[in-house]
Amino acid sequence: PVIYLVTPTYRRPEQIPDLTRLAQTLLNVPAVHWIVVEDSSTLSPAIASLLKRYGIPHTHLKAQMPEKYKKSKLKPRGVANRNAALDWVRSNCKSGVVYFADDDNTYDIRLFEEMRFTKKVSMWPVGLVTKVGLSSPVVNDKGLVVDFFDGWMANRKFPVDMAGFAVSVQLVLEKSDVYMPYVPGHEEDGFLKKLDITPADIEPKADRCTQIFVWHTQTKSNSPANRTTAAGKRYKGTNIDILQEWVV
Ligand code: UGA
Ligand code: MN
Repeated sequence: PVIYLVTPTYRRPEQIPDLTRLAQTLLNVPAVHWIVVEDSSTLSPAIASLLKRYGIPHTHLKAQMPEKYKKSKLKPRGVANRNAALDWVRSNCKSGVVYFADDDNTYDIRLFEEMRFTKKVSMWPVGLVTKVGLSSPVVNDKGLVVDFFDGWMANRKFPVDMAGFAVSVQLVLEKSDVYMPYVPGHEEDGFLKKLDITPADIEPKADRCTQIFVWHTQTKSNSPANRTTAAGKRYKGTNIDILQEWVV
């Protein structure tokens, strides 16, 4: 089965470095189709060329966060992007598995073989999530998911991180009206609840959820570059002019 890996992304100083790292991770993964969805009104040529360069099967889309959410302090990040990818999957795929892989996480390539044969929904631990440093299903001695461990339970039925689950394309097709809600912090829970799954449907992976194969690393955010220095006469006609184009 093909893994449809959905990556929401948006323009910021760390965007290209984060996508470069993820692309190079995916070079090690067979049968993957990378759906990169930009939160932007236009497709970035730099991202298009990155995607082409690595030769990973991919689809490059755009889907902007609705204007009304952009002003709020807590934003539903990556939701429009992921929902556009769900539409794409529903129109283009018949089998496989969907995984929502944010651009700023660290992925151990062993993770991908864990999720590949997901029947409905599979789940596994994610490191570096909240103050407890971990988000994971709680698995009993019979190998069943009986609870969840997360530093921010927030009354959620499925207190899991976006990087902690995958869904089969078959289920995405069956539940054809299910999208991710525009509710910050509750995107995963809202989406999973609407899929109508029972605890017994959840397939615990990563050796009964005893291994961490993905981390919510986050990249230190950098201030936009100050372009005035390099814009000076002194650098006119030099390589610095060209480099400026790559700097956000
Ligand atoms: C955490 C979760 O890991 C996200 O999956 C979840 O959507 C988010 O919280 C939330 O609850 O809002 P976090 O690391 O805090 O994510 O957020 P980001 O990594 O900044 O954003 C998640 C994804 O959306 C990233 O791939 C990012 O590139 C993208 N994004 C972010 C956009 O496309 N547009 C934005 O304005 C911000
Ligand atoms: Mn993140």
